[in-house]
Amino acid sequence: MTWCCLNGEMMPIEQAAISPMDRGFLFGDGVYEVMARVDGRIRAKSLHEARLRSSLDAIGLDISVTDVFSDVDRLIDKAGLLDAKIYVQVTRGAAAVRDHAFPAQISPTVFLTISEFKAVSQKPAKAIVRPDIRWRRNSIKSVSLLGNVLLLQEARENGAQEAVLYRDEFVTEASTSNVFVIRGQTLITPPLSDLILPGITRHLVIEMASTVGLNVIEEPVRVDSLGGADGVFVSSSTRGLMPIVELDPGGQVGDGRLTDAFLALQTAYDERLHHHE
Ligand code: PDD
Repeated sequence: MTWCCLNGEMMPIEQAAISPMDRGFLFGDGVYEVMARVDGRIRAKSLHEARLRSSLDAIGLDISVTDVFSDVDRLIDKAGLLDAKIYVQVTRGAAAVRDHAFPAQISPTVFLTISEFKAVSQKPAKAIVRPDIRWRRNSIKSVSLLGNVLLLQEARENGAQEAVLYRDEFVTEASTSNVFVIRGQTLITPPLSDLILPGITRHLVIEMASTVGLNVIEEPVRVDSLGGADGVFVSSSTRGLMPIVELDPGGQVGDGRLTDAFLALQTAYDERLHHHE
């Protein structure tokens, strides 16, 4: 059974119901987080709390993140899963009439789910490379994900596992993850901006790179430079570090094999997952 928590109430997911007037449903007017719980601890919980706060602030939604996370704790107790994926969604709530502008009186809808999930090392993958068709405020973790949905679907239809995106010839991120390039002992990743999500996994990778002798440069990455890199990988809470060995268009990345630098980083990441603070 999958447990959820809707506005503070725990229930099996089949019993949860929201109003069709919910602005999350009508407008995609809401934000979310996806967190991995590993060995009974949420990975980088405080970073997820801070990012949720910043997404809520960005859309002018006033709700206590501390209260949301105390519901997360209660849901974890209810489900009792040591290894799980936790989904947190806050929308502006249901209004009496459909109006784009915020209603004067409205209370947010808080929806949480927890499901079994085991973080595993991802196999070498293929990515399509496409123009970034999304809106320009991707630093907000918005539930309006139609662009991301269409891009990942296109990847799947092309036998690929991700879609790497670019705007004006420069890589932004991927449809559900951040992008890193490996050149020798250097990791290069696009700098934080409105155009990309400040990924928690991205943050952890940058933090731990030096422990395996890698230095990190946050600078724009030309999309036509990807194929000539020694390695490319994407990062997310659910994918971990996923190596990309084939690009479409673009062909093989480097010599098509995983570099020692990547393997060392992936091992360090896996260790960190199981021994985080
Ligand atoms: N996605 N960029 C985008 C567009 C994402 O959707 C995600 C995560 C990331 C990586 O962020 P993090 O390292 O904090 O997971 C980057 C989640 C997993 C999802 O939508 O399911």
